[in-house]
Amino acid sequence: MESMGDLSRTHHCNQLGKEDVGKEITLMGWVLRRRDHGGVIFIDLRDRNGLTQVVFNPEHDEEVHTKAHGLRPEWVLAIRGTVVARPEGMINDKLHTGAIEVMVDELRILNKSQTPPFPLDEETEVSDNLRLQYRYLDLRRPGMADNFLLRHKAAQAIRTFLNSENFLEIETPILTRSTPEGARDYLVPSRVNAGKFYALPQSPQLFKQLLMVAGMDRYYQICRCFRDEDLRADRQPEFTQIDMELSFVREEDMYQVGEDLMAELFKECRNIDIPTPFPRMTYDEAINRFGTDKPDTRFGFELTDLSDIVKDASFKVFRQVVEKGGVVKAINATDCATFSRKDLDNLTSYASNFGAKGLAWVKMKADGEWQSPIAKFFKDEERAAMTLALEAKEGDLLLFQADKPATVHHVLAEIRLELARRKELIDKDTFDFLWVTDFPLVEYDEDAKRYTAIHHPFTMPNEDDLDLLESDPGKVKSRAYDMVLNGTEIGGGSLRIHQKDLQDRVFKAIGISDEEANDKFGFLLKALELGAPPHGGMAFGFDRLMMIITGRDSIRDVIAFPKTQKATCPLTEAPSGVARKQLTELYLRPDWEEK
Ligand code: AMO
Ligand code: AMP
Repeated sequence: MESMGDLSRTHHCNQLGKEDVGKEITLMGWVLRRRDHGGVIFIDLRDRNGLTQVVFNPEHDEEVHTKAHGLRPEWVLAIRGTVVARPEGMINDKLHTGAIEVMVDELRILNKSQTPPFPLDEETEVSDNLRLQYRYLDLRRPGMADNFLLRHKAAQAIRTFLNSENFLEIETPILTRSTPEGARDYLVPSRVNAGKFYALPQSPQLFKQLLMVAGMDRYYQICRCFRDEDLRADRQPEFTQIDMELSFVREEDMYQVGEDLMAELFKECRNIDIPTPFPRMTYDEAINRFGTDKPDTRFGFELTDLSDIVKDASFKVFRQVVEKGGVVKAINATDCATFSRKDLDNLTSYASNFGAKGLAWVKMKADGEWQSPIAKFFKDEERAAMTLALEAKEGDLLLFQADKPATVHHVLAEIRLELARRKELIDKDTFDFLWVTDFPLVEYDEDAKRYTAIHHPFTMPNEDDLDLLESDPGKVKSRAYDMVLNGTEIGGGSLRIHQKDLQDRVFKAIGISDEEANDKFGFLLKALELGAPPHGGMAFGFDRLMMIITGRDSIRDVIAFPKTQKATCPLTEAPSGVARKQLTELYLRPDWEEK
């Protein structure tokens, strides 16, 4: 192997162009491909920025050319040579450096590589596990490297924007007490305090509120959060939030900051002008029209409530559901009457994944006629009323769901997305932002047999509903808001409670006793009694945003070292066992060894 010696890099591998022809340059990078063409050897030399074609011509330099024969993918090279224009016809417009190549005078092999476990191009399908096990190779792949260049740029744009809006970047502790956000905590045992534990923060929620009490006025942080919850494509056990909190604000101020930040981010990262203000929709409207509080508004297929029309129908399934307080809703899948029996069976079994007991369907024929196994159960007037309500016309497919409201909404929301995927209605280059507002403050948790906070217990209830806090908490709306982008919840926040008596009442409403409140949140309650200003804030999921900005399907593609679905890291093999001595020091006595 050779050393870099006196060579120093003059350019990166995505830099050289026509204007550099004739220059003597030095590049360093990895061998992506080697091609031998009638004696001449071409190497695509790659670094994180891109690639440059370098040429070894025996007529130019016999010795260097002979050495180039041995080069293999992923070897690390330094080359010194001269930039030359590519011959007419060999110019590659797709490549930034496609107009030139480098005629090599000197080649140094800085390191060799074993054959990589997978080719580092973008085309080859590689299993997720292998990609994560060799993440440092996966990240060398051009598309992946681009994601991190863009993520860096995004973080800079966010900081620049928030700095210009007078925010202070302040760090908050990683070793802390748990702040309940609804997920399980990751715990860290304390060595110097036997039997005591820190929790890793699920978010800096309480600290940022305390910073407002401290008079910091506007805070932000691009911070890591930890949640021990079930993982999905858009959920990781540790993820990054763009977290902020502001004093003396109302909802309108929050919307403004959030919208301006997104506009700035999309301009910087994608050169796209995002129109502001964003549309707003109440939680109730979102559920009624789309079945979810994070609707993808890039396409239609909205839900229509038919309960009133079918409540007396002879179709028992529908009638009985309405009698028991459930609902019957349907989607008009416009132009989907072409679905085959098999398509419909697939759709029904897809729906059953989300709790559907069936999925009644109707294909619309000419003159409002129904082709459907359930057509016979309805009177002409009932069919006509449903056709009208659904604005159904020839060629449409109607899909019905009858059940408890939560099930109907969940199933039809998923069916809606599935229909859009099947009909290819989802345009990756459209960015539909939406504020969802007026969330309920609490929801009833059947398992725990008590109300729990929907956002978190520090969220301000709607002033007009305060009277209901004790008598009917489920009816109280909150001053919480989510930002939804293309059907993904990318951010959320609320105005906070800043007065102790109201915070006491909300804790009570969700079944937290004075004693428990004092034990867990005494420090916050005390702070609220020492001049807490009105304040509010929100946090964006940075990984989710980057996933959408880069057009990826998983947040793992925008996190350098993510975890698997089972929260493991195939590269380092974390989590791992530890020495018994470490456990003893932490006063932990394992019982898993016996098991
Ligand atoms: P929330 O819990 O809604 O609010 O989180 C804010 C945003 O963080 C993202 N997010 C996640 N991203 C990846 N993996 C996860 N496991 C994950 N969980 C959440 C989402 C979400 O919208 N403290 C409050 C904010 C506030 O009130 O100011 C909070 O954490 O995009
Ligand atoms: P059945 O009378 O149970 O054979 O159902 C007749 C049609 O209604 C079938 O297409 C079922 O898929 C559908 N169906 C059954 N239960 C429900 C339900 N809860 N919601 C919507 N459709 C249903």
